[in-house]
Amino acid sequence: MKFRLSALLLGFVLLFACQSKPKLSITKEAWGTTDNKEVSLYTLTNANGMVVKITNFGGIITKILVPDRNGKIEDIVLGFDSLKQYTKEEYQKACPYFGALIGRYGNRIEKGKFKLDGVEYTLATNNAPNHLHGGNKGFDKVVWDAAELSGPDSVGLALTYLSMDMEEGYPGKLTSKVTYVLTNNNELKLYYQAETDKPTIINLTHHSYFNLSACKEDILSHELTIFADSITPVDSTLIPTGAIASVKGTPFDFTTSHKIGERISEVKGGYDHNFKLKREGAGLSLACQVSDSASGRIMEVLTTEPGIQFYSGNFLNGSLTNSNGAVLKQHYGLCLEAQHYPDSPNRPNFPSVVLKPGEKYAQLTVYKFSTK
Ligand code: GLA
Repeated sequence: MKFRLSALLLGFVLLFACQSKPKLSITKEAWGTTDNKEVSLYTLTNANGMVVKITNFGGIITKILVPDRNGKIEDIVLGFDSLKQYTKEEYQKACPYFGALIGRYGNRIEKGKFKLDGVEYTLATNNAPNHLHGGNKGFDKVVWDAAELSGPDSVGLALTYLSMDMEEGYPGKLTSKVTYVLTNNNELKLYYQAETDKPTIINLTHHSYFNLSACKEDILSHELTIFADSITPVDSTLIPTGAIASVKGTPFDFTTSHKIGERISEVKGGYDHNFKLKREGAGLSLACQVSDSASGRIMEVLTTEPGIQFYSGNFLNGSLTNSNGAVLKQHYGLCLEAQHYPDSPNRPNFPSVVLKPGEKYAQLTVYKFSTK
């Protein structure tokens, strides 16, 4: 009798353990409409309980939930719970691009002008006097087509968008596909692909604001390493001067780990700079590592891109509230945007961002989470 009772108990315990273990899955929910198109929110969960929420509006990642060193799962990106909060005028005017997919061109193009094959193109100067992040209605504000993917050790979401010739002033009909993959190794992989029917320029990136403390404090005590020996210095309008400057002996030297707040007061306006990555060959290479000693969370960023824009959330001013209730004051999030350098179309000495018909644009960036 005693034996049967304990066997029964064991059975219940096992049943409970099996049921509470997270399962690799992707689910979809209706999230409203914009531009007369239905928008959905997709929830990707891996076998460790890591969760990534993505909407096909602007390819925005609204949440990334990862464990801390004690297994506590919390949201480590800035974002909102409803579509309206992303589409409302007030938010778009503040233009922080929370979690968004950026295109056709990540970061700035001087005075919104560039020449390609002898023709001058004019883009919106939506960040006066310059063009920023694809213009007035960039890839962060359009509705993408979505397809769910699932494999044995990962789940994913493939987003596609057809941008018409001269949309936002860019030449060429451009087909873009961005595939988000969440693996059971706590990696979030972003594969970007594109093709054009006329010569054009392209520089896609992703604009999550990370706060590994889950917004318990700002990111100034986060420790950062960037595998870069130089930056592309900028003028007062944040346009590269064209120089490639060594980080040695400057507050931009993150070749060894430093607290972000340690030298930020020496950088006018805070960090908002493109780092030229040290890399070997064209493959995936480690670009940076960021950690928060209080939670023990670590994030590594690997990319195939030549540069990374480190932005320390300088323009956050407390006017927005995060989905977890935190008031988003200055430096409450940091962006690490893997990309080609800002203003490359006007800088022949920077790696080229030109895409021609018949060529395939491809970039891969991986965000890998762990704890210490
Ligand atoms: C990028 C830019 C910043 C700022 C943010 C969005 O990171 O480099 O200057 O515009 O986007 O607020």
